[in-house]
Amino acid sequence: MKPIVLSGIRPTGQLHLGNYLGALQKFVKMQQEGIYENFFFIADLHALTTNPDPKALHENVKNVLAEYIAAGLDPEKSTLFIQSDVHEIPELYLLLNMHVGIGELMRTAAFKDKARKQLGITSPATDDDEDMAREIIGGNSNKRVNAGLLTYPTLMAVDILIQKADFVPVGKDQEQHLELTRRFARRFNSFYNVDFFKEPQNFNFGGEPVKVPGLDGSGKMGKSEGNCLYLIDEDKPLRKKVMRAVTDAGPTEPNQPMAEPVKNLFAILKLVATPDKVQFFTDAYNRCEIRYGDLKKELAEDILAITAPIRERYKEIRNDEAYLRRVVEMGAEKARAHARKTVEDVRQIMGILPF
Ligand code: TYM
Repeated sequence: MKPIVLSGIRPTGQLHLGNYLGALQKFVKMQQEGIYENFFFIADLHALTTNPDPKALHENVKNVLAEYIAAGLDPEKSTLFIQSDVHEIPELYLLLNMHVGIGELMRTAAFKDKARKQLGITSPATDDDEDMAREIIGGNSNKRVNAGLLTYPTLMAVDILIQKADFVPVGKDQEQHLELTRRFARRFNSFYNVDFFKEPQNFNFGGEPVKVPGLDGSGKMGKSEGNCLYLIDEDKPLRKKVMRAVTDAGPTEPNQPMAEPVKNLFAILKLVATPDKVQFFTDAYNRCEIRYGDLKKELAEDILAITAPIRERYKEIRNDEAYLRRVVEMGAEKARAHARKTVEDVRQIMGILPF
């Protein structure tokens, strides 16, 4: 039995460099190892938490699928599927929610972040989040946080547990969700006194999980942050975005600590350039001789060396809708077979028995 690998990405737009370096690149490498059974999917049910335009959602599902394949995922070697094609997922989501606490969901960082935004709370988050809880439970305003956003981690845990995944390659921002998945698995096993669900781990080829920063000086690269370099960006606009990256006035003393925006440029450079190039620019910085323009030019070329071939393949694949349809039909069948078995067992364990 090969170890099972599973991961997914939400179809909320085109994929960006954070998605690629934090997740998709690892998917491709794990597939190339040839020692895993791979499941990679498009998390369209998760995308519904932000109530997207229905037409745009459907297009984005196709876009991400084509990007998966363009980046190197091979439907003959990995099961590629759409989350909503696996009807067993919503069923297990309902069952697992019976063992998930509202409080632990409300305490997850991603929920707090998004809920505060939806409620229009601008004060800094506190440990007890009294202002958020008050708004959610007792608020008289007509703003609401949808329940799907709260139970997002249950749905993600189900994606993983239903396929009995051993490894879940994700970026750093998803680690808390993975921790919850392990907690839910342990709780279920101990409640029913079974050794049923596995506890999945992130996978980083021995390194640390990646967080790709934005080029606007702070935070991570993300669609809602509006600071993305996209895999399908043409050369010219991509170069332009990199050249516009925030820096500072330059170091004035040797070995001066780097300001956040400069650190971010180096963080991305480390992920895309050879170690000698990183060393070259680090030395230049430490000697106060760095020219940020040169650093950015190098960075843009190294990013394009990765993204331009993906972009060109994407254009070919995206137009072949008949092929894309065949891929997801094949994937759905395999993903459902695994999922069906898990749900049948869970029903049995929980006492939902046939007459
Ligand atoms: P999503 O769609 O937000 O992101 C998809 C993947 O991209 C990674 N990522 C990043 N990595 C590094 N730096 C960044 N700036 C960056 N931005 C995004 C994310 O860590 C993620 O791996 N909840 C998931 C989707 C999901 C899932 C699952 C993943 C649903 N079910 C089951 C794994 C297993 C999400 O929202 O990812």
